[in-house]
Amino acid sequence: MARNCSFLVHFLAFLVIASLNDRFGICQQVDESDLANGASYIFGDSLVDAGNNNYLQTLSKANIKPNGIDFKASGGNPTGRYTNGRTIGDIVGELLGQPYYATPFLAPNCTGKTILHGVNYASGGGGIMNATGRIFVNRLSMDIQVDYFNITRKEIDKLLGPTKAKEYISKKSIFSVTIGSNDFLNNYLLPVISAGTRISQSPDGFVDDLITHLKGQLTRLYNLDARKFIVGNVGPIGCIPYQKTINQLSADECVELPNQLALQYNAKLKNLMTELNKNLPGATFVHANVYDLVMELIRNYKSYGFTTASAACCGNGGQFAGIIPCGPTSSMCQDRDKHIFWDPYHPSEAANVIIAKQLLDGDEKYVSPMNLRQLRDL
Ligand SMILES: *[C@@H]1O[C@H](CO)[C@@H](O)[C@H](O)[C@H]1NC(C)=O
Ligand SMILES: *[C@@H]1O[C@H](CO)[C@@H](O)[C@H](O)[C@H]1NC(C)=O
Ligand SMILES: *[C@@H]1O[C@H](CO)[C@@H](O)[C@H](O)[C@H]1NC(C)=O
Repeated sequence: MARNCSFLVHFLAFLVIASLNDRFGICQQVDESDLANGASYIFGDSLVDAGNNNYLQTLSKANIKPNGIDFKASGGNPTGRYTNGRTIGDIVGELLGQPYYATPFLAPNCTGKTILHGVNYASGGGGIMNATGRIFVNRLSMDIQVDYFNITRKEIDKLLGPTKAKEYISKKSIFSVTIGSNDFLNNYLLPVISAGTRISQSPDGFVDDLITHLKGQLTRLYNLDARKFIVGNVGPIGCIPYQKTINQLSADECVELPNQLALQYNAKLKNLMTELNKNLPGATFVHANVYDLVMELIRNYKSYGFTTASAACCGNGGQFAGIIPCGPTSSMCQDRDKHIFWDPYHPSEAANVIIAKQLLDGDEKYVSPMNLRQLRDL
């Protein structure tokens, strides 16, 4: 009797542990095929958010139709991506041969060996500074995104053991960082909220602050064994349909101040990349010149097959449909792949494809000191 009872207790304990293990993915078998193609760990804002904001109480959301209408993996349903199809992060992952899109960190299925196939920490409205995006109430700023990677990092140790984990993170993982636009659009340039900051801080002072914070954030990732980085600069934010509409510009004009701030930041970002390449042994920081790349698309849109570089495909208000964000009641264009901009703020999948291909195989004009394919193969 005692024997049977003890058997029963052990058996029940086994069941409980087995189900816990299952929940946390501890017992999932990891084999070489899970590690063969490497992974992307994606940090940033709405340009690369793949659904984290779905799990936040926030005013910045994209899991509403018709967002995602061209996203095949969801059958055209919204996923939380701020575009009609794939983000640059999704496309780059595909081109690099990674079999799965990086899973949003906050998604319930971001557990177990899924994290070995990449994790996405990006969040619409997020910025380098904690205060950025306050108007949306909630968003993951870069400090928090790095905190979350620290959690993932420990889980990878559990899955692979410390030695193999370190090797996987440093050799097979690409760390992409797409952030900074909101620090201008939804912080420094916001009329009411930023009034204080803009009076107390010159553009130069604010940009220096951004660079100092970003340096700290990238160094934290390095301390967690990240070695292969690609960091995007800020695009021509004065040319987005929202800015052009509220400033009542004509189709071929862009708003000067936002672009000037972006260029000021971008010059210092380039220097930061050089500095980190020199000072952090074993690390490679690739600088992605998104500004020039998007500007080239805008200037020569016809030669890339677009019919407009100024009007949003999905949105409402003003001459470029640039005031009211994309949602179920917005007007939507039919020729989505002929628009550079999907909505008042974000590029279309068609534009993302061109950008991603340049990042993968482009030359020094757009990616330096090497392109993503070379970074992966290091
Ligand atoms: C996890 O869930 C997301 C959103 O629900 C889904 O798009 C994705 O395919 C899932 N990923 C995995 C690896 O199951
Ligand atoms: C930003 O918030 C994070 C997380 O709450 C905190 O650790 C960090 O110190 C904050 N950074 C600044 C500059 O206040
Ligand atoms: C990661 O978390 C640990 C605590 O669990 C902490 O000691 C360490 O400083 C963190 N690392 C970074 C880079 O944030």
